[in-house]
Amino acid sequence: MSGYRLTAVETVLEEGSWAFTAREGDADREVVLVPCADESDGWGDEVDSGGGQPVRAWINRCTHEAQRLHREGVGAVTRGGSVVCPKHGSAFDACEGSCDNGEAAGTTLRSIDIEVRDGAVFLTDDDLTYLYEGLPDDDGDADGPASSSHLTF
Ligand code: FES
Repeated sequence: MSGYRLTAVETVLEEGSWAFTAREGDADREVVLVPCADESDGWGDEVDSGGGQPVRAWINRCTHEAQRLHREGVGAVTRGGSVVCPKHGSAFDACEGSCDNGEAAGTTLRSIDIEVRDGAVFLTDDDLTYLYEGLPDDDGDADGPASSSHLTF
C-alpha cells in the first residue's frame, strides 16, 4: 500500500490536531487529523490498518454550518475525546466523527481514509490528492468562492 506521507503520529498527538489541504475533483478540501484517544494509549509499533489507529482524519468543516474545526494558529479544540466546534460548541467524537449534542446533533463528520505505518500518517483516500500542509489562507467561511489564487498549477 502506498499513500502520501502526511506527518508523524507523534506530531498529531502532541499538537492535538494537524490540518492539510487536498484536491477532490474541482474542489479543495480541508482535512484535519486528530488523535483518537481510545486508540492512542500505547498504540505501540504494531498498529494494524484496521480500526486500531491512533489518528483519524475528518473533513475540516462542522456539519451544522460552514465553520472550520481546526483553525490556523489555533488548531482544533479537543476535549475528552471529542473535537469541539468553535462556533456553537457541538462536540464530535474524535474516533467516530459522530455528534449527539447541540446544533450538530445527529450528524457525523465525513471521514477521510488514512493509514498509520511506521509512526507516520499516510493519506490513502482514492478521492483526494494531497496539496499542501495547512489551510487556504482565505480566512473566510468554507462556503465562499473557492480561493485558489495562491495555488500554482
Ligand atoms: S457551526 Fe458547528 S455547531 Fe454550529
